Amino acid sequence: MPNLFFVVSAYLIGSISFAVITSKAFGLPDPRSYGSGNPGATNVLRTGKKAAAALTLLGDAAKGWLAVFLTLKFAPQDAQLVGLVASVSIAVFLGHLFPIFFKFQGGKGVATALGILLALNPWLGLAAFGTWLIVAKVFKVSSLAALIAAASAPIFTWLLNEPMEYTAVAFTLAVLLVWRHKSNIQKLLSGQEGKIGGKA
Ligand code: G3P
Repeated sequence: MPNLFFVVSAYLIGSISFAVITSKAFGLPDPRSYGSGNPGATNVLRTGKKAAAALTLLGDAAKGWLAVFLTLKFAPQDAQLVGLVASVSIAVFLGHLFPIFFKFQGGKGVATALGILLALNPWLGLAAFGTWLIVAKVFKVSSLAALIAAASAPIFTWLLNEPMEYTAVAFTLAVLLVWRHKSNIQKLLSGQEGKIGGKA
């Protein structure tokens, strides 16, 4: 299979918005219409429906994981594999941010990044998730936890002796994720960012 097939498939998988699909299934409003307007688990949680938020988190993480896993398993096991996996990682993430199925209005990428990192190396994913958990436990602010976890990920890839391409992936995801959190950063700086589970 040509490498382009894996990259395009990854983008299409990433374009599936589990926040929108899960909300529809639970009879909740479209997450782009309340709270932060972000189609993501944190915003879905603002409805108070924990199961819908958990499914959003799972689905968005699973698609990141799946795209990388399928590439690692089915792409030619040659010298180009690491580069292809890196391209697929970015493609599935961009699909989440700019989904072709949802007018290119996607999320901020936290759960999808977690899935990608878990597939690249489970220890890497666990280290990033652990960082998110610790910051979330201490400050109870989802965006702050995501920003610190994302910024830590390239350091973890380096510490884990991962290929340079994977460190580049973690760095690119972090840059895109910080950019998508512009409004959260402004609120964090002005002390207006809400706590996890706060109402919409
Ligand atoms: O998962 C995104 C989170 O970091 C921030 O979400 O809805 O508070 O902008 P939100």
